[in-house]
Amino acid sequence: MTTEPILRVESLAKNYGGLQAVRGVDFEVPEGSIVGLIGPNGAGKTTTFNMIAGVEKPSAGSIYLSGNEITGIETHALYHKGLLRTFQLSHEYARMTSKENLMVAASAQLGENIFMNWLASSRVTAREREVQDRAEETLEFLGLTHVSDELAGNLSGGQKKLLELGRTMMSDARLILLDEPGAGVNPTLMLKVIDMIRRLNQERGYTFCIIEHDMDLIADLCENTIVLAEGQILMQGTMDQVRKDERVIDAYFGGEVV
Ligand SMILES: Nc1ncnc2c1ncn2[C@@H]1O[C@H](COP(=O)(O)OP(=O)(O)OP(=O)(O)O)[C@@H](O)[C@H]1O
Ligand SMILES: [Mg+2]
Repeated sequence: MTTEPILRVESLAKNYGGLQAVRGVDFEVPEGSIVGLIGPNGAGKTTTFNMIAGVEKPSAGSIYLSGNEITGIETHALYHKGLLRTFQLSHEYARMTSKENLMVAASAQLGENIFMNWLASSRVTAREREVQDRAEETLEFLGLTHVSDELAGNLSGGQKKLLELGRTMMSDARLILLDEPGAGVNPTLMLKVIDMIRRLNQERGYTFCIIEHDMDLIADLCENTIVLAEGQILMQGTMDQVRKDERVIDAYFGGEVV
């Protein structure tokens, strides 16, 4: 039996003027997996994510979500289809509390304005109560209950990463694209972020595609890792295979003996 991958990318390319940032990339992400995307700075990793998430229009190629073409579909429409790319918390979100951030995420998915109603009136409907309960459960799951009423802008780097994951849990996400979830996170919270990604995968069935420079995070979580260099796929395999591959060593260190 063949199962349709949740994500399939074919001959994907992006040019910025004369610069070929991504030059014909093909890969698949199986449903339920955690796939790593690594490569040196400027390899085209973020550009690839941006095209998949509808932030940038591809110059060429096609993108399929569970077999349905989504090339060129905008971010908010993809959100409703269960594809989510996490961004750093914007200024707008930094001024809301942790709990409010989670409630807004549920509300955006539903296309409702629960949050505004919730702010404007003391009358809490059953639906609003449900979203509040879910936000509280999510904070508990993440170990963030103690900062529930803290402004998101005041959280530590690692707590912000956990809150970003929490926002995905409030939506009905199926495929989550994470761009450097380990960046700026201290080692203790890093272990927590890794654990959270694994639990979301195992307990809730979310599929992840993760860009990361921290090889330990990738080795820990990903059964398959794709290596990009200069806009092309160099190889893919387990981190053991990746680490031994001469082409990867060359791409990272330019052939120098290290
Ligand atoms: N909006 C843009 N306009 C012009 N060039 C861009 C744009 N975005 C990215 N690039 C260029 O495209 C190439 C790929 O960039 P990209 O951000 O995808 O790399 P990356 O693999 O994510 O690198 P890093 O590991 O440093 O985040 C780089 O040469 C970059 O300078
Ligand atoms: Mg990047």
